[in-house]
Amino acid sequence: MIEIAIDGTAASGKGTLAKKLAKKYGFVHLDTGLLYRKVANELIVKKKHTSLNIEKYSFEIARNLNFIEIKKENLRSEETAKLASLIATYPRLREILNSKQKEFVGNNKKKFHGCILDGRDIGTKILPNADFKFFIDACIEIRAKRRLLEKNISFLHENDEKCMLQSLIREMKERDKLDSSRITSPLVPAIDAHVIDTSFIDADELLLKVTKIIEGI
Ligand code: C5P
Repeated sequence: MIEIAIDGTAASGKGTLAKKLAKKYGFVHLDTGLLYRKVANELIVKKKHTSLNIEKYSFEIARNLNFIEIKKENLRSEETAKLASLIATYPRLREILNSKQKEFVGNNKKKFHGCILDGRDIGTKILPNADFKFFIDACIEIRAKRRLLEKNISFLHENDEKCMLQSLIREMKERDKLDSSRITSPLVPAIDAHVIDTSFIDADELLLKVTKIIEGI
C-alpha cells in the first residue's frame, strides 16, 4: 500500500490536495483534523469544554469515536478548531487518536492501493515511513482570506469584512502557535518532507506539482 503523508497549517490547501489526490489515484483518505474536531465538538455539545475534568472527558469521547459518524458532521467552526487545538496538546488524547488513525490505515490496507492522511503529525508520527511526505504552508494573510471565502458571507460594509479578516488572522496565528509549540508531536515538517508554499499557487497548480513528484516526472 502506498502511503502519502500531508501535513501543514490551517487553510494552506492540504485538505483540498488530499481530497484531489485521493480522487485521482482512487486512494482512501482520512482528514485527521476531523478526529480532534469531533472530540472538541462533543465536549462543547455536552457542555464539558469548561470543566476542570476536560482531559478525562476528552479521553472518553476519543475512545468511542466512530469514523462514519464524523464524516457526516459539520465540524468547521472556529470555536471547534480552537478547542481542537487545545485538546491536541494532551499526550494521552493524541495516543488514543494516533491508534485510531493507524487502525484506519490497517483496516484499509487490503481494500485500497494507497492511503492519504492529512493533519499535523502524519509525516513525523503516524506514517513515519510514508512513501511521500508533503508539508504545505502559505502566508497567514492569504490563508485567512481563503477561510473567509469558504464562509461565503456577503458583507454590507467593507469595514466588517476587514474586521472579520483581522479576527481570523488572530485566531489562526494563535492556533499555529499552539500547534507548533506543543511538546507532543508539534507541527513541524518531517525532515524528508517536500515543503511547498501555496501563497501564490492555486489548488490545481498544487496538485500538478505534487503529482509530478509522486510520478517522478
Ligand atoms: O486540520 P484541522 O484544522 O481540522 O485541525 C484542527 C486541529 O486539530 C489543529 O489545529 C491541530 O491542533 C489538531 N490536529 C493535530 N494533529 C493532527 C490533526 C489535527 O494536532 N494530525
